[in-house]
Amino acid sequence: MALDVLLSQPQAGVHVYVCGPKGFMDAVLGAARGKGWPEQQLHCEFFTGEAVRPGDANSFEVQLASSGRVVRVPADQTVVQALAACGIEIQTSCEQGVCGTCLTRVLEGEPDHKDLYLTPEEHAANDQFLPCCSRAQSARLVLDL
Ligand code: FES
Repeated sequence: MALDVLLSQPQAGVHVYVCGPKGFMDAVLGAARGKGWPEQQLHCEFFTGEAVRPGDANSFEVQLASSGRVVRVPADQTVVQALAACGIEIQTSCEQGVCGTCLTRVLEGEPDHKDLYLTPEEHAANDQFLPCCSRAQSARLVLDL
């Protein structure tokens, strides 16, 4: 059955779950969004996160709101790794931006979202991010840690 027919209109209480190759998932989710399905009714599961391309990474700082401590995140480390090197542990599971375990509130600054967990609306709000994979657009992020 064609996706446009199957997903022709959002239905209250009906959720769309998709798992498979990225192209397939993009097609299903794109068709659903095109027909007006709300993000909270769309669910997907990736087997692996998308790799960050070499050269995409940048260096930036994170500040812990509770103590004011500032930690530099080098281009070759994730926020989770940089904080762990300073003795600050964030609970993780997948470490690929798909499970949401490491979700952390952002109080100031603009994250550079690399995850596959948050919705486009949640990315746009810029008030939380996944520090196992996401980085920063701004020079510093102040985290609710
Ligand atoms: S540990 Fe899974 S999203 Fe960060």
